[in-house]
Amino acid sequence: MKGNILILDDNKSVLTALEMLVQTEFDKVFPLSNPNLLLATLQQQNIDVVLLDMNFKAGINTGNEGIFWLHQIQKQDPSIVVVMITAYGDVELAVKAVKEGAFDFVLKPWDNHKLISTLHAAMKLRKSQMDNSALTKTARTLKQALRLPAQELIGQSEPMKKVMTVVKKVAATDANILIVGENGTGKELIAREIHQHSLRKDEVMVNVDMGAITETLFESELFGHTKGAFTDAKDERAGKFEAAHNGTLFLDEIGNLSLALQAKLLVVLQSRNIVKVGSNKPIPINIRLITATNKDLPKMIADGFFREDLLYRINTITIEVPPLRERGNDVVLLAEFYLEKYGLKYNKPGIKITPKAAGKLLRHSWPGNVRELQHSIEKAVILADSEQLTEESFSLQSTKSASSHLHNKTIEEMEKEMIQAAIQKENGNMSAVAKKLGISRPTLYKKLKSFYT
Ligand SMILES: Nc1ncnc2c1ncn2[C@@H]1O[C@H](COP(=O)(O)OP(=O)(O)OP(=O)(O)O)[C@@H](O)[C@H]1O
Ligand SMILES: [Mg+2]
Repeated sequence: MKGNILILDDNKSVLTALEMLVQTEFDKVFPLSNPNLLLATLQQQNIDVVLLDMNFKAGINTGNEGIFWLHQIQKQDPSIVVVMITAYGDVELAVKAVKEGAFDFVLKPWDNHKLISTLHAAMKLRKSQMDNSALTKTARTLKQALRLPAQELIGQSEPMKKVMTVVKKVAATDANILIVGENGTGKELIAREIHQHSLRKDEVMVNVDMGAITETLFESELFGHTKGAFTDAKDERAGKFEAAHNGTLFLDEIGNLSLALQAKLLVVLQSRNIVKVGSNKPIPINIRLITATNKDLPKMIADGFFREDLLYRINTITIEVPPLRERGNDVVLLAEFYLEKYGLKYNKPGIKITPKAAGKLLRHSWPGNVRELQHSIEKAVILADSEQLTEESFSLQSTKSASSHLHNKTIEEMEKEMIQAAIQKENGNMSAVAKKLGISRPTLYKKLKSFYT
């Protein structure tokens, strides 16, 4: 998730420094020292995040210029996420800017690490807003035009159908959802799916990676802090809970939270109030909570690493996302989806997987699940020098735990399944089936004959 950023600061050396700093964090950086070019640039470029200086020498220098341009950006495209950057003396103005809709602010001189993590958070917000906006519709229309599956969550296997049924059922409720599953199984995607089908779909979904939050910053990150609450708190700041107010809060990697932090989280979830660091005023929070983990929480409870009462708070509904190796032919569906996606991206349209290569994919145990499959296909497409991806195109790391029933199948059995699936999908149109599988019609018939005699 990179995206495009525009930086507006009239101080050229500050501008250059910021540009250098964020260069690797974004796809494109548009540095701008003249605010009068801002709107034109926003119109011409696809900007996700704006880093906006509060003060411009040319103006009256009260900071109102910053707020003025913030409003201009919002008028042009309210889904652009604006981060203010401001001198220490202007904190109050920056807070005002945040109240007026800026995402956050950073003080000059800035801390590189903090600036970047703020920009990442801004980009995340932008992404989740995009998911809800008309832009998604455009993307969907485009996808349909390209005959790619309209839905993002791919899977027709029984275990995935079950998951999708539960997702549909629970989305429109406000129930707390715990999503469990191995790495890369699509937990975050499912969380997004739930949010998108929920009553809160027009509100923001705020993601917090609990594994990445430090012990010391936990409270201020989640609950916010008041000005002067601690040495570095030169500003009042909203936490993630407040940011998610009326929307969905997605706490990812909840199993990575220390016991001490679990206790703090539990208090908030029970009271549905947050108290900012440095304040004693409880603020009521209305959030829909989704959590996810790849850990075995009941086992962690048994071992004394996770609080049972916290589990019962968060798991009103538990969704277990099956590992990819248990999803049968979904592997092929996903492979085809990514093949089409990366075929377009790398300008190799019409690229196909041979049945043998597909067999190899079906036999693999996918310890990294869908993400591993996605990366394997992308890599294979990039490296391909013909229109066919063969077994040799995939160098899959075999794992000792490769114990799915799929592994006992012969290549022939898998080929048979693939061909049957293709026949079903193409409604028996054998030319289409052959084309789809990347084999000739005579070969297809020969194979069919061998299966059924
Ligand atoms: N059913 C699916 N259909 C299409 N894409 C999927 C599906 N499941 C996962 N993906 C894709 O696989 C990648 C990994 O998914 P995601 O990040 O949601 O997994 P995760 O379970 O949160 O992983 P981790 O535990 O590593 O955080 C993403 O690019 C996602 O879009
Ligand atoms: Mg995840």
